[in-house]
Formats: sequence, structure tokens, C-alpha cells
Amino acid sequence: MRADREAALTALYSDFTALNMEGGWHRRFPALWPEPRRNFLPHVWHYADVKPILDRAGELIDTQQAERRNLTMFNPVEGNIYSTVRTIVAAYQMIRPGETARAHRHTPNALRLILEGHGTSTVVDGKQVEMRPGDVLLTPNWAWHSHSNDGAEQCYWMDFLDVPLVHLLEPMFYEPHPDGLEQAVEQLEQAPIAFRWEDTLAHFEAEQARLGPNVPLTIELGPAQLDTIALHMLRIGAGQTTAPVQTTANAVFAVVQGNGVAEIDGERHPWSFGDTIAVPAWRAHSIHAQSDAVLLRVSDEPVMRKLGWLRSRQP
Ligand SMILES: [Fe+2]
Repeated sequence: MRADREAALTALYSDFTALNMEGGWHRRFPALWPEPRRNFLPHVWHYADVKPILDRAGELIDTQQAERRNLTMFNPVEGNIYSTVRTIVAAYQMIRPGETARAHRHTPNALRLILEGHGTSTVVDGKQVEMRPGDVLLTPNWAWHSHSNDGAEQCYWMDFLDVPLVHLLEPMFYEPHPDGLEQAVEQLEQAPIAFRWEDTLAHFEAEQARLGPNVPLTIELGPAQLDTIALHMLRIGAGQTTAPVQTTANAVFAVVQGNGVAEIDGERHPWSFGDTIAVPAWRAHSIHAQSDAVLLRVSDEPVMRKLGWLRSRQP
């Protein structure tokens, strides 16, 4: 009798499968779980490892071959070949003197953090802005953008884009500029898409005057102009540690200056100038600085907030 029932169930389930269906009571994998799973992995990419590789790529690959000479950082979680965390990809990019990266636009939102080198500028929707170390420059959804190096130094920066989120939700559009570069260009010192390093420092000073000298500081680069990405700068004095936190927001940290150790889910990850730290959702983390440090935090907090999924707690 029992064997008959088993056979009937097996036949039933195979009929489900033939219709591309599955019974909710016997899933091969659960669809719901009590709190965010640990999928993507905490990971650090060290700029000192990357820079010589970028230099070698610069000798072999020109800007004709590569629309952008960048190296994306893929999270080492199994099966992933692109994303740094679930919703964000980060990359290192280098541009040599005399080179131009042609204009294009795409639905993914993007931003840059300049690490080293002078003489490079970006043109975003006809506005040309110089890019200097410590600056953060935005290229929002569907804005034309190109970059050129008219100086004498190689310029290194980091790119952050919400491409993995666009992949998940599917609204990808991309096009190269029909003329290669925008023709009507206006040079600006200040622009809403440019967060200058000196302004960040002034903002930190004001925040420190408000909170006192002995606490890590967090400021937002705002008002926010990217719908999917929040940008925060953290200043952590030598010997200071940020309060541990666990949040549904996926984040990537970039080291603007200083060195220290990130503790993520109990594991210690040393970092220094130019490094990239992947902190996926719901990973308990705190950041300790061994020398005076500034880090940029790039996160999908606005997405989580708009959708009602932003939750944070002290672990
Ligand atoms: Fe782009």
C-alpha cells in the first residue's frame, strides 16, 4: 500500500516536472529562509598587486582595442564571473598620457574614484571636469561620458557600476557616441557630478567639530544623484575602529588613504591605499585603522531603502 503511494507520488512529481512546475512542499531547494544567506564572499583586492598588471596591459592593449582599459574584480564565490558583490561591480582602470576613452552611454549608473595621476578629465553630458586624486565623479544612467589624459602621467582610478543589478533586472541599454566624442564641450571646475577631495576634507572638518575628535566619521557624498548607489566617505583615525554593523545593503569599500584591518564575519582582512574590500549583504563588519585613513563606501542602500528591505543591526 505504502509502495503504491510512493510510486503514485513519483509519477505525480514527474508530471509536475514535465510542465516546468514544482510542488511547494517538496522543493529541491528552499525558496524562503529566516535571514539573508551568506552568498557572496568577503574579499580584498590589493592595489599593489593590480597596478603592475594594469601597467603591463597598458603596454599591450591600446584604447582602439579597449573602449575602457579596466580590470573588473569578480567575487570568488562559486559560479560568479563578474560581480564584486550581488549588485555592484568594481574595476581598476588606467589611462596613459595622450589617450582618450571614447564616449558612450548606458543604463547602468557609474562612478569613479581617482587614485593617482594628474592631467585627466572626464566629459559627462558635455561638461568637462578635471579628475584629481581623491575626487569622486558620477556618470548617471544614460549620461554620455568619455575620458582623456592630456597630462604627462599615467592616471589610475576605480570604477563602480550597478551593472550586476541591471543584469538581474534586465533593463540594459548601451550605445557608443555616433561621433566618437561629444562635440560641444564646456569646461567646469565645479559640477554636480564632481565631489572634490578638498570639499570632502572640509566636510570632515565640519563633522569633527560637531562630534569631537575621537570618533570615526561618516559623511554622505550628496545630494545623491545615482538612483541605485549611495556614496559615503569614512574617516577613521589611527587606532580607531568603526562600530560593528550588519546590514542588508551590499557594499564595496575603496581605500583612499591609510591602512588597517577590516574584520568581516570574524575574519581579519588587512588593507592599504587603493585596495578594494567586498562586504556583501548581512556580513557583520567593522573597520580598524592603523594609520589615519579615509575609505569610500559604495553601496546599494538606496535600492534596499526604496524597496523596504533596508535593515541594519549591531551584531
Ligand atoms: Fe561607461
